[in-house]
Amino acid sequence: MIETKIIEIDPTNIDRDKLRCAAEILAKGGTVAFPTETVYGLGANALDSEALKRIFQAKGRPSDNPLIVHISQKEDIYSLVREVPKRADLLMEKFWPGPLTLVFKKSQIVPDIVTAGLDTVAIRMPSHPVAEALIEMSGIPVAAPSANLSGRPSPTLAVHVIEDLSGKVDIIISGGSCSVGLESTVLDVTEEVPVILRPGGVTLEDLQEVLGNVSTDKGIEGDTTAIPKSPGMKYTHYAPKAEVVIITGEIRDIVATVNSLKKENEKKNLKVGIMATDETKDNYYDAVVISMGSREKPGSIAENIFAILRSFDEKGVDVILTEGIETKYIGHAVMNRLMKAAGYNVVKARR
Ligand code: TXA
Ligand code: MG
Repeated sequence: MIETKIIEIDPTNIDRDKLRCAAEILAKGGTVAFPTETVYGLGANALDSEALKRIFQAKGRPSDNPLIVHISQKEDIYSLVREVPKRADLLMEKFWPGPLTLVFKKSQIVPDIVTAGLDTVAIRMPSHPVAEALIEMSGIPVAAPSANLSGRPSPTLAVHVIEDLSGKVDIIISGGSCSVGLESTVLDVTEEVPVILRPGGVTLEDLQEVLGNVSTDKGIEGDTTAIPKSPGMKYTHYAPKAEVVIITGEIRDIVATVNSLKKENEKKNLKVGIMATDETKDNYYDAVVISMGSREKPGSIAENIFAILRSFDEKGVDVILTEGIETKYIGHAVMNRLMKAAGYNVVKARR
């Protein structure tokens, strides 16, 4: 156990003097959790292998899962990568700072522990004012996975980070909620046609608008015969303690199927939780029902999803029946996270 200091920073009025001590700890090889617009990250100096080991230890993260390097200005990529293709330039122009991580061919200075021995490095420039100020003040590139224990839902509030990492990291910066609510899109730009390795805050449709042709790695769609190119995507993830089942189909059929699965589980004396939507939540009775948000606003579902998965743990349910949503726009990333939380346990609702 180490002593974890909690620092509160108001993102709308950043106290740079307060933040300076966190920036110094980072530069000196310590671990600092901080808010980003996607989820909270656990940062360490991306050029310091000893500091990076502390990230893997604190999270219990497998060492074959590479880290994303965070920078505060675009110029900082040039020392970290061997080449910047034109397509990457277009994307950085349009989406940085923001929830898009780009995978480049790595330069010599990036330690192997960051990339898990791969020849590529993932880089992102977050738009959250606290993340931006912290990275800039530390004067180093900051490697940062999501600030959760490995396998748990990603943290979108400081309390989630405190729950998972208190006593394991030097500093936790509390800076409010994360506006996107799920992680950045990871896009491999080393190929002529860029490949989405993890869907996220910037959608396929957003990317297609800029580049035309963009493909999606088969390994992330639950095709178990394909090995995901993003090593992190192969692990069970985002999982609450309860078993998760996803029910997909037409809304009416989903409601009927959820209700019949609920009965089946209750017969086995299992406590059932239901992740519904605003449109359906009133069709369920005598169960722990939480709405993810409106189907009309998948962005607000994205924002809530991890906090809701965590909250079911406190309610002591054994099974969570989760409605599927449309995989358009950010719904694609939401369904990807739900599928992983469910271990691809999907029931197709039929009438
Ligand atoms: O939004 C985010 O990206 C957050 C915040 C903190 O910035 N970070 C985050 O990091 O989600 P993490 O470590 O939880 O997820 C990083 C993902 C993993 O799936 C990892 O395998 C993939 O990025 N990744 C990292 N480097 C890679 C590389 N060189 N090639 C392919 N995938 C890579
Ligand atoms: Mg993560």
